[in-house]
Amino acid sequence: MARHLITSAIPYINGIKHLGNLVGSQLPADLYARYKRARGDEVLFLCATDEHGTPAELAAAKAGKPVAEYCAEMHDVQAEIAKGFRLSFDHFGRSSSPQNHVLTQHFAGVLYDNGLIREVSETQMYSPTDGRYLPDRYIEGTCPNCGFDSARGDQCDNCTKQLDPVDLINPHSTISGATDLQMRETKHLYLRQSEMKVQIEAWIDSKTDWPILTTSIAKKWLTDGDGLQDRGITRDLDWGVAVKRGTEDWPGMEGKVFYVWFDAPIEYIACAQEWQEAGKGTDWERWWRTDKGAEDVRYTQFMGKDNVPFHTLSFPVTILGSGEPWKLVDYIKSFNYLNYEGGQFSTSRGRGVFMDQALEILPSDYWRWWLLSHAPESSDAEFTWENFQTAVNKDLADVLGNFASRVTKFCRSKFSEAVPAGGTMGPREEQLIADITTRLADYQTQMDGIEVRKAAAALRALWVLGNEYLQEVAPWTTIKTDPEQAAMQTRLGLNLIRLYGVVSSPFIPDAAAQLLADLNASDAQWPADIATELTALPEGHAFTVPEVTFRKITDDERADWQSRFSGIRS
Ligand code: MF3
Ligand code: ZN
Repeated sequence: MARHLITSAIPYINGIKHLGNLVGSQLPADLYARYKRARGDEVLFLCATDEHGTPAELAAAKAGKPVAEYCAEMHDVQAEIAKGFRLSFDHFGRSSSPQNHVLTQHFAGVLYDNGLIREVSETQMYSPTDGRYLPDRYIEGTCPNCGFDSARGDQCDNCTKQLDPVDLINPHSTISGATDLQMRETKHLYLRQSEMKVQIEAWIDSKTDWPILTTSIAKKWLTDGDGLQDRGITRDLDWGVAVKRGTEDWPGMEGKVFYVWFDAPIEYIACAQEWQEAGKGTDWERWWRTDKGAEDVRYTQFMGKDNVPFHTLSFPVTILGSGEPWKLVDYIKSFNYLNYEGGQFSTSRGRGVFMDQALEILPSDYWRWWLLSHAPESSDAEFTWENFQTAVNKDLADVLGNFASRVTKFCRSKFSEAVPAGGTMGPREEQLIADITTRLADYQTQMDGIEVRKAAAALRALWVLGNEYLQEVAPWTTIKTDPEQAAMQTRLGLNLIRLYGVVSSPFIPDAAAQLLADLNASDAQWPADIATELTALPEGHAFTVPEVTFRKITDDERADWQSRFSGIRS
């Protein structure tokens, strides 16, 4: 049995995520996890909240709460919403967990022992107006690389270049707007990423099967020559993982914490420990230590493109630099951005649809289907209400929902609420079986390759095959002359619903489970031989006509939502 370790980029704690965040990491990761489980593989699917750094500190201050309390509350809020979207994490951890503190300090200790951390005396931006050292993200200025005028101190959102605040031209504080920033002397730790350049480069070069989006970003960093510059990994903040070497204090580092991007990916590992300590599993090292069984684990990470440099370069430096047998990622699936109605989704500006709001207006399957079938893979994608309405009404209501409803209702009215007996399959049915077999193989290929949009298209094509068959053989006409044949056609239709319930479950888990429950087929396995699968529900097997599986979105609703979500969330 294959074993899959799957992680989604861990969302920042400060606030509820929007649909663009969701489709860029957590949702496709869930799709893949559900698919692999459905195929019978062993899966450990982990995610967590990313709780350190200045965004957390400042959000807590804004909410008027101690940061620990704020994070605990927001963690529960995010966990609840994740459940609402049916994100099937085996554990949803916290980067502020004791496990992550210990492990982060452990990595710092071994990296230091291996000569990969150096101490640097440096000047840092201090804002007298704000009365504090300014964290990277709270300094903005002009990007030295591309000229973008609101580049943040840690990264330019326009050209994705990782930056240091001192690189910015005309920097100012985003808290107060102050420009009278002073450089003050303080000591910091640097991760000597440059020492690992050759090793990291060889590793990236060996990943010939990775998505172009992932490797192109990674290689750009490497070949630009500055992607693997040594990087500061400490900050002057109260909230975070205290700077220690293992369990030892680090002289000169009092009052400092590790940079959030140093401890956050380590949470992928700590999360497995949390999972075990929460009593949800055992033997976490079997997933993470290649000396303890993880050598035959396939590890896949999901993330938005802005996260790629940290996962292809910085975190691998931590892992490889430790010299310890930790599992390295095998495959990195990254995503472009999802835009919203002609502009960008924006958390800071409250623009777009946020996860909690989405669930208030429609069940999660509607969102899952649209988002996954429009995943921003080869380029940025755009959410519009019009497109959303069209896709939901066509794909879910007209194609899948309507098929399930027509077949079951026809059966109930002409036969009974049980699979009808009689008739024999002929060439048209053989053709259907052959077509389904081909399409299913295509669907599996796309899912195995994590081609999310193509997988959605293949699944939809499977649904269409059933509709075409039904339309063509028209049991409602057949029954007038040949009730036995009509029974066979209906029986096949019922079995197709069952098949759809099974194969659709990674995309639309609730609707799929409901269809299977209505057919009394909840224990159905992933299909192997299609001819056999399409006789799985035997003659006489009782079922219930499903309630409306998917309803249509009306023009009025669409217009209403469009205006309701046109503004800025307060
Ligand atoms: N919180 C980051 C973001 O939302 C992602 C962190 S991923 C991890 O962009 F690698 F740090 F875990
Ligand atoms: Zn730039």
